[in-house]
Amino acid sequence: MTQRIGELNPPNRLMLTPGPSSMDPRVYRALATPLVGHLDPWFKGCMDDTQVLLRQIFQTENRLTMPLSASGSGGIEASVVNSLEEGDEAIICVNGLFSDRMAVIASHTAAKVTKVEAPYGKAVDAEDVRRAGKGKKIKIVGLAQGETFSGVLTQIEPFRKVADELGALLVVDTVASLAAVPLHVDRERVDICFSGSQKAISAPPGMSPITVSPRAEESFRNRKTKVQSWYFDLTTAMNYWGKERLYHHTPPVSLIYALREAMRIVVEEGLEARWERHRVNQLALIAGIEAMGLELLVKKPADRLPTVTAVMIPDGIDDAKVRNQLLDEFNIEIAGGLGPLKSKIWRIGLMGHCSQKPYVLLFLAALGKTLLDQGFRLPSGAGVAAAVHSYAHAHSEAAAVSR
Ligand SMILES: Cc1ncc(COP(=O)(O)O)c(C=O)c1O
Repeated sequence: MTQRIGELNPPNRLMLTPGPSSMDPRVYRALATPLVGHLDPWFKGCMDDTQVLLRQIFQTENRLTMPLSASGSGGIEASVVNSLEEGDEAIICVNGLFSDRMAVIASHTAAKVTKVEAPYGKAVDAEDVRRAGKGKKIKIVGLAQGETFSGVLTQIEPFRKVADELGALLVVDTVASLAAVPLHVDRERVDICFSGSQKAISAPPGMSPITVSPRAEESFRNRKTKVQSWYFDLTTAMNYWGKERLYHHTPPVSLIYALREAMRIVVEEGLEARWERHRVNQLALIAGIEAMGLELLVKKPADRLPTVTAVMIPDGIDDAKVRNQLLDEFNIEIAGGLGPLKSKIWRIGLMGHCSQKPYVLLFLAALGKTLLDQGFRLPSGAGVAAAVHSYAHAHSEAAAVSR
């Protein structure tokens, strides 16, 4: 009962994980600014700013665009519980644990849920969705643009086409891809799109930005039954994030400050420059990884998600020992595999603030040393050298384009 708890003093990690990512100092400063009430007239302006920035990052004019007071899973929940009710059918594309989560949450509604699956390391084939939906009335087709479980990128366009043929809304999880991978919600006609604050936006965890097309809003209005969740009923939540700014629940004001600042950084950099930065840094990481004699889980380059690179753990190497050494000796955190991929892969995140050349080179040097210490034979310095070469190639390519 008399135990004294010391002052909070977390270690200063470089978080090269599939989220959360490390944050820019500006975001820490925003977090520490004075708290105001969630109905304060000044805060209403801060909410306006947040919505303007979210629309720019999602590339949308959607009225219903806001950050949910929830982690990314809350975005999944809001998407499916608002769009599905008894009598509906959903097709969910599953190629890993996070896309499967959408199917699991959808199965908590009264709708019929069909999973269309792909092996880990691959994207679902839109043709399989077409076959699964043939002759049926499908309410939503759901997918994850970035499957963090295995580092797979899914192209949205073929699924939009199939969803159009089926008369379905298209729901896209961009938790691991927003602000890192090309996305144009309006142009690509994504009906419901959600993300997480803690990944490529590099804000603290705890908010899930979401945007909903007018067509999806209309389908919410035409529901025959109540949304099963009061908290995630988007039509009432919008009373707070809409014109009226009416109390719905008390939002995490400080997290909204931080999200606003992190998004200002995204917009200052420019979306296209940011997408390119993520691409170039992943290419350098991959060049380094392969030069060390390691293999990737995702074989097809076009299927690789720029924010998460899944590396096969070589035979005889202990997953936990490597990750612990990286943490203890270099203050670098990477992630292991989940479920069936546990102890089989490492997941290296280069997201938002963490997708930087100095971090890629530091990580490759640290991993090379760690693997040598753990008895893996590799050419000394090969990883860093290959990455440096990859950067030189990317820079000369960019110079040629600008000439
Ligand atoms: C693609 C994807 N969707 C959903 C989630 C769930 O997000 P959260 O853990 O913030 O609830 C994650 C988390 O890693 C994710 O990577």
